[in-house]
Amino acid sequence: MSALSFRPLGPDDFAPAREVADEWMGREVGLVMHRLFFDQLGSSGVWAEFDGDFCGFLLGLVSQREPDLAYIHFHVVDSSRRRQGIGAGLYREFGDRALERGCTRVRALAPLWNTQSIAFHEGLGFHGSEQPDFVGLGQDRVVFERLLPIEAAAR
Ligand SMILES: CC(C)(COP(=O)(O)OP(=O)(O)OC[C@H]1O[C@@H](n2cnc3c(N)ncnc32)[C@H](O)[C@@H]1OP(=O)(O)O)[C@@H](O)C(=O)NCCC(=O)NCCS
Repeated sequence: MSALSFRPLGPDDFAPAREVADEWMGREVGLVMHRLFFDQLGSSGVWAEFDGDFCGFLLGLVSQREPDLAYIHFHVVDSSRRRQGIGAGLYREFGDRALERGCTRVRALAPLWNTQSIAFHEGLGFHGSEQPDFVGLGQDRVVFERLLPIEAAAR
């Protein structure tokens, strides 16, 4: 029987994640995927394996300014394993752990051009609002938010 499993990230996960990130994302990821997310914030992130094979990861944190807010910075799923519930599983695992730490809501961003990411967040029951220049001049983003937990029925 095939099995999907999740665990927190650690510093040793940076290199294998770096190796596949550009290919899985379909573009250069650069410093968005800074290793501080593995070295210093790894326990908040999520690593996914399908039958023991690495198939996706999520970088996230609990906000220091708003301790009830869990924030997803980056996530990607192996391009050959899309639409199998792995992205939703990464979000649920992250959300469940954040809930245990006192968070009540989760936020993530998507650029307006990333229709796949927008469909994913809408599919998971997030509500989005368009914010002009959110991460810089001309860098509009949809800011998605929803309450925790992200229940299984959300996919
Ligand atoms: C976005 C992404 C993580 C989704 O991962 P995934 O494992 O394919 O998503 P899931 O299978 O869990 O999908 C959950 C739900 O989201 C929606 N969804 C996901 N991808 C979709 C798509 N391409 N089109 C329409 N709806 C989509 C669906 O409602 C889906 O449920 P369903 O398959 O039962 O209909 C993946 O497409 C990806 O890695 N994209 C590139 C990276 C990226 O853009 N990351 C975001 C910026 S950091």
